[in-house]
Amino acid sequence: MTGVELLDAGLSEAVDNGLSQVEDLLHREVHSNYQFVTETSLHLIEAGGKRFRPLFTLLSGQIGPRGGASEVVTAAVVVELVHLATLYHDDVMDSATMRRGAESANSRWDNSVAILTGDYLFAHASRLVADLGPDAVRIIADTFAALVTGQMRETRGPRPNEDPVQHYLAVVAEKTGSLIATAGRYGGMFAGCAPEEVAALRRFGEIIGSAFQVSDDVIDIASPEESSGKTPGTDLREGVPTLPMLYAVQEGGRSALRLRELLAAPLTDDALVDEALGLLRNGDGIARARQTLGEQASLARDELALLPDCPARDALASLTVYVVDRTG
Ligand code: IPE
Ligand code: IPE
Ligand code: MG
Ligand code: MG
Repeated sequence: MTGVELLDAGLSEAVDNGLSQVEDLLHREVHSNYQFVTETSLHLIEAGGKRFRPLFTLLSGQIGPRGGASEVVTAAVVVELVHLATLYHDDVMDSATMRRGAESANSRWDNSVAILTGDYLFAHASRLVADLGPDAVRIIADTFAALVTGQMRETRGPRPNEDPVQHYLAVVAEKTGSLIATAGRYGGMFAGCAPEEVAALRRFGEIIGSAFQVSDDVIDIASPEESSGKTPGTDLREGVPTLPMLYAVQEGGRSALRLRELLAAPLTDDALVDEALGLLRNGDGIARARQTLGEQASLARDELALLPDCPARDALASLTVYVVDRTG
């Protein structure tokens, strides 16, 4: 299972069982009488994906007394549907052609189909979350507003006097940390955790979610398509400066100078993308981004100290190792 060590047999069985209920509900929920919408929605659901957010929801639920409650499964599906919808939309924004090792929806069909499929998935997330009550509805609405604000902040870039690294960290907390925070919060809430435990799961999720995005940005530079299921260098082509790039251009020397020149605008030429990737892979930016990841992992572990000592907490601790290790 992605990134998590489940050393306890009871926990492992509960999580497996939860994940298979998640798959069933995901498939049932997106089924439409109009077959084409079912097809475009199932396209990315069936292409794969790590199901990191549902897994984290289920594990957070296992901290509480009612980890097997059907509401925890519903919450996990809500979070995955919102995530999926944002992937359809994000690939339009980023002109991405590959997702989950398959052709992106915008590439297989067109932008309109990808945008409408994302909207359809949001509609179904909303429909499901209604079963979880008004608090859950408000939480997902606030989460989605934060996520979209992060995407908007990324699109606009830092203000003239704003530190680009601070801007980047605000973006990743909003666009990725917010939804992963809600995954943990929902899991804790619907499994009957104490309020201070729910709060710790939420903060843990926000930190681990930000780290997850930092590692994704390292992977965009350092990992081949076969392992990420996405095209390396997408951030360079889109002109989105990520943490390893921001660190790399701060270095002295000729390589950093050349990188600054290359990164001044979105890169469209394949040879220039390759040149920039080569400079980034050989420079110190990636190592410094990994150092930031290590710091985030340690802050996340501090939050776990507020939770009861149990196999689910150990599994959450293994996620803090995974976000660092998956970069290399
Ligand atoms: C991709 O998320 C977008 C990010 C926020 C980094 P994932 O890496 O969880 O994508 P899937 O769900 O496994 O495809
Ligand atoms: C995606 O960020 C974040 C959201 C979908 C909110 P990226 O653009 O970095 O993610 P990938 O690399 O396309 O998965
Ligand atoms: Mg993208
Ligand atoms: Mg993007």
